[in-house]
Amino acid sequence: MELVDIPVADIKVLNRLRKTDPHKIGELAESIRDINLLHPIAVAEKDDHYVLLSGEHRLSAFKLLERPTIPCVVRENNPLINQLVEVSENLCSNRLNAIEESNAIVMREQILIKLGRKAVVGSNQYTEGKITNAELSNQLGISRRVYQYKKQVANINPKVQAMLGETKFANSMMDMVKLSKQTVAVQKAVAQILVASPTTTFKQAFITAKLRLIPDAWSEENRKLREEIQLPKSIMKFDRKKDKLNDICRTVSHNEELRRPKKKALFGTNVVSNYTMLPEHSRWFIKYFSNEGDLICDNTCGRGTNIIAGAYEKRKVIGFDLNKNNLDCIKEALDNYIEPVQTQPTSSENVNYELIHDCGVEMVKFKEASNMIDLFINDIPYILSAEKYTDDPRDLCNIKDLDGFYERVEVMMKNMKRLIKTSNYEEGVIKPIIMKVGSQRRGNKGLMTMDTDIEMIGRKIGLTLHDKIINELRPSMQSYIINTSFQKRFTMKIMETNLIFVKYE
Ligand SMILES: C[S@@+](CC[C@H](N)C(=O)[O-])C[C@H]1O[C@@H](n2cnc3c(N)ncnc32)[C@H](O)[C@@H]1O
Repeated sequence: MELVDIPVADIKVLNRLRKTDPHKIGELAESIRDINLLHPIAVAEKDDHYVLLSGEHRLSAFKLLERPTIPCVVRENNPLINQLVEVSENLCSNRLNAIEESNAIVMREQILIKLGRKAVVGSNQYTEGKITNAELSNQLGISRRVYQYKKQVANINPKVQAMLGETKFANSMMDMVKLSKQTVAVQKAVAQILVASPTTTFKQAFITAKLRLIPDAWSEENRKLREEIQLPKSIMKFDRKKDKLNDICRTVSHNEELRRPKKKALFGTNVVSNYTMLPEHSRWFIKYFSNEGDLICDNTCGRGTNIIAGAYEKRKVIGFDLNKNNLDCIKEALDNYIEPVQTQPTSSENVNYELIHDCGVEMVKFKEASNMIDLFINDIPYILSAEKYTDDPRDLCNIKDLDGFYERVEVMMKNMKRLIKTSNYEEGVIKPIIMKVGSQRRGNKGLMTMDTDIEMIGRKIGLTLHDKIINELRPSMQSYIINTSFQKRFTMKIMETNLIFVKYE
């Protein structure tokens, strides 16, 4: 192609794709003064002047040196080709930031498509002989993967591109790729933070923006649940609420026929009922860990606090216990006070509960079943016969040695593991086995804590400990215990542990 010396004043610069760098122009000017221009600039003739196609820095250097003319190659004036030349040169110059580079890549592809030299992705047109993305990435000396990353940056919202385009942050390709994958709201928040305080790192701005926008990530369901259960904390205290659920539970827990005196209560002078759970405790766990319509099971249901709270909160419930009177009394409460959840609208049967007078360790009725329960919640007897429930030898309260007790607990946990549905952590599907346990002090044998032992059984049989929640108890028989505590230097036990296990694939 012919080289012509053209007056600098006759060359116009149109459609600049990138800004010129004064420092670079200064350097170029010096080298031109020393060794002259190595590469001519490219121009096209237009009317009575010329249009610059590529070489803006070189042209500016000539202006700086006040040289009257500059060596040029004159090309045919086709706007698309002119643009293509400019964009391609810019891409090869390595001086673009990630946003400019991405836009240049996209623009180059668009021009090539308009010129009919590149196939449109996804169209059925005849593609033979057309330029591919692999070839375009090759030209730039990068892999296809990096080419895709670079191109992705152009997806950043145009306003955000304008905000960040001239900041140092636009130099990091991977940060810009990350930004391009966010919602427009997050992109804008990140850009605002970075523009307002440029000393912030991109990572800090990203985390801050995400946190700021987190309330939008709350699903309606979780927002409602949060109002009901308040903050889920690792130490919880539940109070008695005088409401309908409490009244229903009391019809069972205060039934005179079911009352059994605690063996040593107040030195035998008074009748104290065996312990029942606080309805608020049951309700909280059931609400947080299951949904309406779920099937929940308490396999040592006693006087049925979990069962009643579950049915009250519209779950289907299964209860096992060895005490027939308990079950009859729970049945009466459910029939009288709780609306059945009917799984089959046509069925006249009351289908929301099943009370089984049998051993909850073996759960023989479900021997062949698996993956059917959404939530197990139980409150097994404390170790070492702390309370007497029934005379049935299968009753855990009748096992007097620790090893024998935990052997049965292991059998129970294996059966629960088979019956509980599988959880999926990534998808937020949590189907727990919740076991409320306590501890016993045995003189110089020390403190025996069920949570440690049961956690180890869980680990042994392949359950995952998902959480551990302490619930604070009101101290009972304080004056008697305080004196002993001080004498023997131990603390008053005012907590129970709720172990929460899940089964993963
Ligand atoms: C601590 S109580 C449960 C109290 C219950 N959460 C409530 O609020 O009333 C333990 C219960 O487990 C029952 N139990 C013990 N061993 C059992 C077994 N092998 N099968 C079924 N129930 C059993 C006892 O009869 C007792 O009612």
